[in-house]
Amino acid sequence: MCGIIGYIGNRQASPILLDGLRRLEYRGYDSAGMALQNGKDLQVLRRAGRIDNLALLVAEKKPQSHAGISHTRWATHGAPTDENAHPHRDQSGKLALVHNGVIENYQTLRDALKLDGHLFTSETDTEVLAHLVGKYYDESSDADPVQRLISAVQSALVRVKGTYGIAVIHTEAPEVMVGARLGSPLVVGLGEGEHFLASDVSAIVAHTKDVIYLNDYDVVTITKSGFDVKHLEGGIAKVLVSRVDFTEEDAEMGDFPHFMLKEIYEQPQSIQNALRGRLSRDEATAVLGGLQMSPQELRGIDRIILAGCGTAYHAAMVGEYLIETLARVPTEVEIASEFRYRNVPTDKNTLQFVVSQSGETIDTLAALREAKRKGIKVLGIVNNVASTIARETDGGIYIHAGPEIGVAATKSFTSQVAVMTLLSLLLGRIRNMSSTDGLELIEEMEAIPDKITAILKQADHIKEIANKYAHVEGMLFMGRQMNYPVAMEGALKMKEISYIYASGHPSAELKHGVIALVKPELPSVFIAPHDAVFEKNISNIEEVKARKGPVIAVATEGHPGIEKVADDVIYIPRCPSVLSPLLTVIPLQLLSYYVAVARGCDVDKPRNLAKSVTVE
Ligand code: AGP
Ligand code: GLU
Repeated sequence: MCGIIGYIGNRQASPILLDGLRRLEYRGYDSAGMALQNGKDLQVLRRAGRIDNLALLVAEKKPQSHAGISHTRWATHGAPTDENAHPHRDQSGKLALVHNGVIENYQTLRDALKLDGHLFTSETDTEVLAHLVGKYYDESSDADPVQRLISAVQSALVRVKGTYGIAVIHTEAPEVMVGARLGSPLVVGLGEGEHFLASDVSAIVAHTKDVIYLNDYDVVTITKSGFDVKHLEGGIAKVLVSRVDFTEEDAEMGDFPHFMLKEIYEQPQSIQNALRGRLSRDEATAVLGGLQMSPQELRGIDRIILAGCGTAYHAAMVGEYLIETLARVPTEVEIASEFRYRNVPTDKNTLQFVVSQSGETIDTLAALREAKRKGIKVLGIVNNVASTIARETDGGIYIHAGPEIGVAATKSFTSQVAVMTLLSLLLGRIRNMSSTDGLELIEEMEAIPDKITAILKQADHIKEIANKYAHVEGMLFMGRQMNYPVAMEGALKMKEISYIYASGHPSAELKHGVIALVKPELPSVFIAPHDAVFEKNISNIEEVKARKGPVIAVATEGHPGIEKVADDVIYIPRCPSVLSPLLTVIPLQLLSYYVAVARGCDVDKPRNLAKSVTVE
């Protein structure tokens, strides 16, 4: 987690750093800080809490500087206080460092440094790294401070266990900034007479579109006029300059009050983007060139594993139903953080997909690496095309949803489900799906964006329901078949942004325990579209009503009856049951959004969370 931005050039650094931090705030918002080169000194400004707090300090101190590093934190080691805020300094006070990641052996290093007389002022693992780099710098006999700093960073990092994206400056080498990465993302921005380091391109896209995505073990040195990338253990690193394909506006809110609402409303478009150019009516199938697998190779697959975390995991659960129903290929879903520590048996005909919006989730990345170690072919279902997961997979399907900034994932879920539907169509058509069924599915998929638009038009009705239940302390979400994962996703959204305890269950599990919770103060949300299990869902609703539990139902329009048992109903347009998750999730996203707004919660930056979980 956490966001880093560094600047070196001819302009004033602090406004550029503050603006960059605001764009990275979704990555963490426990504290923020910056260190600026200031003649012979470093000026370090840090504040617990949001970037606005740091902005007030900057306005007061009016720092004058053309080079600096900055950080917005998601705390792993030590509380979110001023003292634990980055940047951290070394023992000499001449070096400042910002860090994204976790130094796992920090305690051992800290004890050893303490024996050497180092004094620590924070509880963070990061301060230990700052001291370690400083120690190697001070011990070096190299006359050139720039070389000394680079070597000190390299010497320190080879002793470190864990993950890092870092940026370092030193008063004795004011013309350079050093960065490095292992496991946490870091990108170099190339400008005219200025260079940047950042966790994510959104922080620098206003200044440059030419970037280098660093690889693990890269150590980069930037100056006003140039850059140099080396491997951590010496030698030249591979450098590829890429052009960023999104604009500053793509990552802005426009007229919406929150990114989450903007992203919910983008779904008709983002699904169209996921489908564009990938549906072949002539062959009644999907065209997924990114898989880089021939029909023969795809036919040889007899088992699929889907791995992801959080919302991506829920999308993968929908994917399991889709692939098994449409293509009849046995499919398993794994929580990525568990997969990495489980010893899942695989064989040569197993194909794995890792599902991740950011492409930087450390657990998903670790699952990918573990699967590759076992010789499994691993493909990605990823949004961020420049991400580590996108680069380390053997191919895959981009979801093309555009930047998702709201911490609560919305459009990435529907786009992930949409591409898994394409995958199921393709796999189905090379097995036992007829061209008639394939074509029908294509037509139904093409109709989905307009149906989502129709649901979005009911926002006021959903808001009324949200206001009615906004005071509750808990909520249950129930669904069957492929709407069971949607129930889990609805519950996750509710927990994340409104802090209401919520859980998602298969409707039939109700009577195996969950029903003990039912009471007038605990609403249940039933996802009950008109499908093969509709009547079963109605029975489950009756069971809840018999115990005086309020019920909100998501049901299909044109099927009267449900309003007789449910207290509130949100209708979705008709669609085949395999596509229903693309529609049923929309009211649940809006419900959690409006409940959070009614409760006065910070929708885009819920407490304790960050958008990309790049620490284990
Ligand atoms: C979703 O609302 C969450 N914020 C979170 O569960 C997220 O889906 C998860 O961290 C996975 O992220 P990824 O898709 O970027 O890998
Ligand atoms: N481990 C560091 C800390 O707790 C950095 C966490 C982050 O990536 O923000 O401060």
